[in-house]
Amino acid sequence: MLCHLASAGRSSAKLVAPLGCLVSRQKHTLPDLPYDYGALEPHINAEIMQLHHSKHHATYVNNLNVAEEKYKEALAKGDVTAQVSLQPAIKFNGGGHINHTIFWTNLSPNGGGEPKGELMEAIKRDFGSFANFKEKLTAVSVGVQGSGWGWLGYNKEQGRLQIAACANQDPLQGTTGLIPLLGIDVWEHAYYLQYKNVRPDYLKAIWNVINWENVSSRYASCKK
Ligand SMILES: [Fe+2]
Repeated sequence: MLCHLASAGRSSAKLVAPLGCLVSRQKHTLPDLPYDYGALEPHINAEIMQLHHSKHHATYVNNLNVAEEKYKEALAKGDVTAQVSLQPAIKFNGGGHINHTIFWTNLSPNGGGEPKGELMEAIKRDFGSFANFKEKLTAVSVGVQGSGWGWLGYNKEQGRLQIAACANQDPLQGTTGLIPLLGIDVWEHAYYLQYKNVRPDYLKAIWNVINWENVSSRYASCKK
């Protein structure tokens, strides 16, 4: 957490709290869903959304906090071995928290259809057409072996959109450098209760609830 010491210049007593935050850290918290658990029905049912958000995402958040606490202790002791051994837990649970936080906002009960404006122009430029883009991201997501994510990301160096797949909870930007715009969770916990083992049917349905306004605003911000 970044401290703003300049604002504490009015009196020496006011310095205590800001300096205190140099050694403390806010715990990560589960963000609220921007809609009800049943709002994405019939495409994603309420039971899936409730478990996915309140159990799966919550577990990543809790385990990230535990791992960070242990990491803080290891840092304080100068225990490099312990620091290294905690890195997989931070990657997995930190990735899970980052990915799901993006995912909830990428979806909306008023979603679906096609993007507009600059994002649509970029999709046409980089994939030929929206239909072609949709087909490619679907294929990449369906093709993830085991658990993982399909992504539309922005390659800032090259100034273009890219599709990528990530295994497990590997976060897109932390592992590939691409800035995440749209993530599709293809872990079985995201669809099994409704679609059983038929991942392609889940992929077909999810396009009806994609929040293109959210994806477009992510695109606009990462281009700045
Ligand atoms: Fe998930």
